[in-house]
Amino acid sequence: MQGSTRDRKPNTCDYAMIRFSQVTVNYGYVPGALKDINLQLHKGDFTLLLGPTGSGKSTLLRLIYMDILPSAGLVTVDRWNSARISPRQINLLRRNIGVVFQDFRLIENMTVFDNVALPLVIEGYRRKYIRQVTQALLDEVNMLAAADQPASTLSLGEKQRVAIARAMAKDPLIVIADEPTGNLDREASQNVLNLLERFNRHGTSILMATHDYELIKETPYRRIYMENGEIRQPDSSINVGKERIIMMNRDV
Ligand SMILES: Nc1ncnc2c1ncn2[C@@H]1O[C@H](COP(=O)(O)OP(=O)(O)O)[C@@H](O)[C@H]1O
Ligand SMILES: [Mg+2]
Repeated sequence: MQGSTRDRKPNTCDYAMIRFSQVTVNYGYVPGALKDINLQLHKGDFTLLLGPTGSGKSTLLRLIYMDILPSAGLVTVDRWNSARISPRQINLLRRNIGVVFQDFRLIENMTVFDNVALPLVIEGYRRKYIRQVTQALLDEVNMLAAADQPASTLSLGEKQRVAIARAMAKDPLIVIADEPTGNLDREASQNVLNLLERFNRHGTSILMATHDYELIKETPYRRIYMENGEIRQPDSSINVGKERIIMMNRDV
């Protein structure tokens, strides 16, 4: 990783970093994109958000980076909550969240290096620090050799690796990945999952929405199933340690 100060140890404490309390989202006059969601995510978790298209996965993720606010109920993320957050605080919150999208959202005519460096440039970090962090991240996602190429020249799998490096640039508490493998073939998808797993082992929480059940079927992570804007069932049957099961029965 990028040196000990950025290296967060996996954390087993019981602190709920993200909390949804009776959260409902209506889009305009269309009710029930999310209905009465209660949920807690803990620091260091790798969580899978599963469910068919239209079930509310992206809506749930957008609430976490406060791209939208709940129509009813409360979302708490670290020290911020949806009932009392100013636009300035939303920017602060987003410094602590990396987001990865299905369609990458790179700036195509900028180099790979500049795409990853951009969040740090915007924050006004020193040039030397930006270079160090960016190079370390590109190395981590195995894209250092392409640092000077425009993003437009990359394969789809390579683009997503760069997007993951960019999401990690500010050493976020959590990376939210919304169908990150939706446009990728099997091998590139596996590669993306492996990268997210590696960052998670270094302490970054991951919340990944997917309907690629084949990809995640062997993974031991907590699964949250959504259907019609609701969480379908408690997820305590998953293969996790005893302690975790007790916690989840209490939380969900
Ligand atoms: N911006 C929007 N305006 C109106 N309806 C929306 C909007 N975004 C999503 N929806 C609706 O909300 C529901 C949940 O959508 P979404 O969260 O995108 O689900 P998923 O990510 O699981 O496919 C769907 O019925 C969808 O049509
Ligand atoms: Mg979606």
